[in-house]
Amino acid sequence: MVEVTSILIFGASGDLTKRKLVPALYNLYLKERLTGEFHILGNSRSKFSHEEWRAKMREGVEEFSGNSFDETAWTQFAEHLWYVAGSAQDVNDLKTLKEFLEEKESGASNRLYYLSVAPNLYVPIVKNLGELNMARDPGGWRRIIVEKPFGTDLKSAHALNDEIHSVFEEKQVYRIDHYLGKETAQNIMFLRFANAIFEPIWNRNYVDSVHISVLEQVDVGHRGGYYDSSGALRDMFQNHLLQLLTLIAMEPPASFDADAVRNEKTKVLQAVRPIDPFDTVCAQYEGYKELEGVASDSQTPTYAALKLNIDNWRWQGVPFYLRSGKALERKLSEITVVFHQPPHTLFRDSNNGNFTPNILSICVQPDEGIHLSFEAKVPDSARRTQSVNLEFHYADTFGECAIPEAYERLLLDALLGDPGLFTRSDTIEVSWQLMDPVIATWESDEAPMLATYARGGQGPKEADELLANDGRVWRLGCVHE
Ligand code: BG6
Repeated sequence: MVEVTSILIFGASGDLTKRKLVPALYNLYLKERLTGEFHILGNSRSKFSHEEWRAKMREGVEEFSGNSFDETAWTQFAEHLWYVAGSAQDVNDLKTLKEFLEEKESGASNRLYYLSVAPNLYVPIVKNLGELNMARDPGGWRRIIVEKPFGTDLKSAHALNDEIHSVFEEKQVYRIDHYLGKETAQNIMFLRFANAIFEPIWNRNYVDSVHISVLEQVDVGHRGGYYDSSGALRDMFQNHLLQLLTLIAMEPPASFDADAVRNEKTKVLQAVRPIDPFDTVCAQYEGYKELEGVASDSQTPTYAALKLNIDNWRWQGVPFYLRSGKALERKLSEITVVFHQPPHTLFRDSNNGNFTPNILSICVQPDEGIHLSFEAKVPDSARRTQSVNLEFHYADTFGECAIPEAYERLLLDALLGDPGLFTRSDTIEVSWQLMDPVIATWESDEAPMLATYARGGQGPKEADELLANDGRVWRLGCVHE
């Protein structure tokens, strides 16, 4: 068995490497999950010595690893960090990198390549890896992690898949969606399939609607250049929100095997009915157009809300409402399953016969947990009811620091060769297929009116109207005012 593993990060001077990747690798090292001989090699065009890059990474670990900094552990870990400057799209520079790595490895090795670079560099780097014969080694494995955005529409995603497949086989390719690495997103399958009580009611007979809210407090900030050509649907929906939807809506897979799970996820996306433009809301926060990199007449939505229908036996007639936006009042990612009202109202004269529906809320972040609300009789009243909550908070049960950063799990899985939490080529393409027509309408002359909303507020009133038209309101179960 090959004992030497190298992790080669392209784009190593960027924010992601400093904030997420190296802190995650450091945490894996502390947990003794990076075993055997390993090398972490950073590459980008910026010129750093090994020591300078280590110093930069140290800042990242101190600030973002979530652990109190351990000087001894850091010193040991830092001995595995190397940096070679150069442009990986230039085959000669990549050759220098390869030779450096081979010298360190001195023999057969496993290698994980991480593309943390601008998307226009994915293909040139992949091609060069192929040309230098770096995608295969009879002695060890070769895998590649590709960051998002994976394409900007179906056509570009398909072309990117083709280019990557001309060098790497699908089983070597790990397309990352960090939402899938979040502990609470992983737990959805466990909630559904490790318990007997939820699955029997997880269907149209009991569920009225499903609400997926990914609300962000942060605004677009210094990312205007990227964001203005992307917008909420490409940035958040095609990937994160649709992935959350698959976890809630998919059929039970035959096993926990990566492909068994990913088959079901793809299948449920294929069952989503083409989205009616009338079931969509696009909005932009006030002041967005003043950001650097943003066109002064920009029509890019920083907020979107959609209604989706899933045309299969389980979900017929159950709307899935999705919303996500920036510069809102609070950061909150939550999935709420809203159940039907009781079929017969025994306590007709209490609350005018209206009860708050039972809701099961999965709080993805920040206060990770699960809440189930139901009606209870108000003590000392004749028949008045009030919603009460059964609550599970990760912090209470597993401790404040129990939840690792998503990148930790994802990097570990890629090292272990488990692609279950990574998106397969067909799933990515189906997701684009769903989003493309909406994006095309929004970018055409027939675009619906772009609503505006105040920074730090609750989002556009049009998103509330989308549900009000169906006689519903957005439900959040994890926030108690
Ligand atoms: C990224 C998007 O994929 O996810 C960002 O590009 C967004 O715009 C971020 O802010 C949200 O991630 P999280 O983990 O903070 O919810």
